[in-house]
Amino acid sequence: MKNIVILISGRGSNMEAVVRAAQAEQWPARIAAVISNRADAKGLEFAAAHGIATAVVPNKDYPTREAFDAALAEVIDGYAPDLVVLAGFMRILTPAFVERYAGRMLNIHPSLLPHFPGLHTHEAALAAGHAEHGATVHFVTAELDHGPVVDQVAVPVLPGDTAQTLAARVLEQEHVLYPRAVRWFIEDKLTVEEGRVHGPHHPRPAH
Ligand code: GAR
Repeated sequence: MKNIVILISGRGSNMEAVVRAAQAEQWPARIAAVISNRADAKGLEFAAAHGIATAVVPNKDYPTREAFDAALAEVIDGYAPDLVVLAGFMRILTPAFVERYAGRMLNIHPSLLPHFPGLHTHEAALAAGHAEHGATVHFVTAELDHGPVVDQVAVPVLPGDTAQTLAARVLEQEHVLYPRAVRWFIEDKLTVEEGRVHGPHHPRPAH
């Protein structure tokens, strides 16, 4: 049985999708904890209602990123995670934190990386006039939104799209993409060699 710790900062709909898939598909894993850097993260309610341990490590209580990350790691390690899942966790991580969970920390990012790392990805895709947009699951490395890609999903950009309509179309697909990728990790189907992931799906080429 593998232990998964999920980090959130807000709504937590991707966390919810992972929890629901783990239960419905009876993964050989348990969601050991959901941890947030914000006490008001909506997703904490869902986790608690599903009998999952929750914890809050408020980043604003710590003077530096290093101090916050050290405190966060201590809480995470209390749950002996095999995998750390970032699900809308909106903090930039220090190199020491990333190194600690190297090879066992995944993130979902709402764009077809390497396009549009960082924030406001839907606005950026619209402004760039791209015909396709999407989401990427990747292993977390020191460079923000640049780790080895596990899998991607694309959606069309439609006439009249706003950042909101596009975000909703992407999010629906994130909820399919992320649980599937997490399950591959749990089933030991992912290996990383020279910065590339070998697994059931090859990442689609970037546009
Ligand atoms: C998701 O769209 C996720 O891809 C994105 O935040 C949203 C969180 O929604 N993550 C990032 O932008 C990370 N840089 P959720 O809390 O409902 O899962």
